[in-house]
Amino acid sequence: MVQQRLPSFDGGRSGRRFILTLVAGTVFGFLSACLLITSTRDVPHMFSWVPGGSGLSRDPHHYSELESEVGPETEVKFHGDDEDFHKGEDRIAQDMARKVRVLCWIMTGPKNHQSKARHVKATWGKRCNILLFMSSAADASLPAVVLPVKEGRDNLWAKTKEAFKYAYEKYKDKVDWFMKADDDTYVVVENLRYMLSSYNPNSSLYFGCRFKPFVKQGYMSGGAGYVLSKEGLRKFVEEGLPDKTKCRPDNGGAEDVEMGKCLEKIGVRAMDTRDPHGRGRFFPFVPEHHLIPNHVDKNFWYWKYIYYDTKDGLNCCSDSAVSFHYVSPNMMYVLEYLIYHLRPYGISHSLERSSPDRPSTLIEY
Ligand SMILES: *[C@@H]1O[C@H](CO)[C@@H](O)[C@H](O)[C@H]1NC(C)=O
Repeated sequence: MVQQRLPSFDGGRSGRRFILTLVAGTVFGFLSACLLITSTRDVPHMFSWVPGGSGLSRDPHHYSELESEVGPETEVKFHGDDEDFHKGEDRIAQDMARKVRVLCWIMTGPKNHQSKARHVKATWGKRCNILLFMSSAADASLPAVVLPVKEGRDNLWAKTKEAFKYAYEKYKDKVDWFMKADDDTYVVVENLRYMLSSYNPNSSLYFGCRFKPFVKQGYMSGGAGYVLSKEGLRKFVEEGLPDKTKCRPDNGGAEDVEMGKCLEKIGVRAMDTRDPHGRGRFFPFVPEHHLIPNHVDKNFWYWKYIYYDTKDGLNCCSDSAVSFHYVSPNMMYVLEYLIYHLRPYGISHSLERSSPDRPSTLIEY
């Protein structure tokens, strides 16, 4: 899985080339050691090592590289927080938020409450109809839901099961869709609702970044976040969880793969989330890694895992993209600014079918 050569990662950034040369040997040694450690575990994410990713660049491809990122210490004020700066621009989005109700639950833990989860709440998380932080310790500032699970990556599957159960039992009458995201996932909640608005939450459906291996219908990448319809989640909680032959009963395994196996067995359909141009909406990496051709080495696991023939370059990503992963806390604020504030003067934008005069055409039940 680990490539022998350094990919053309730092193409334009020649200033870093000498560092690359300097530490290439060290990195290779380090990666070999990592492969040795991780190959004993059946977590596919663990193979997500990219040479050059370890401390050489700020382009994370692996969860460990964001561990030390903490984000701003003081509150980041946006214009519009105090004044009605963009007043009226979100009329359609507000309307849709009442019709397509989404609960977002964030996989987090005590170590990340202040360094990561807090910034999800301050940025995209506030747009979900219900926002829950799933942890194992209380934190009044978030607040966090205290689940009866141990921390650590070996318990992610256990935490996922508890989290979905909690969300379903408490909120099944208040929302239509349930999204799981990590505390380093960034979600454009309006685009999530826009995509979901074409589907019926009473069908058993499951959306995300679709991967090919391990499960016949594929499974959704955990990091990019995935969404279950209310009916899909009902089946998971009422038919999947109590049945050892359907859902893995212990704590182990990769959370996203186990979820995929279980959902397939209980008849929850894995959906195609590409837009009409065939461009993806859910992404397991930061935008740069998908947008810049050859940024992600062609031998990297991603290209083997991805369910659909996927382009890199500007055709990679839908104009109504929903999620990106490995987003640092600082980058969350940068994305907030770029997506919700920066406007090129004189250019109005409209997604297909989202004419302000005919908002009702958006809902197709
Ligand atoms: C889903 O099912 C519920 C209960 O049967 C029903 O009241 C509701 O109208 C249905 N929603 C849609 C969008 O079909």
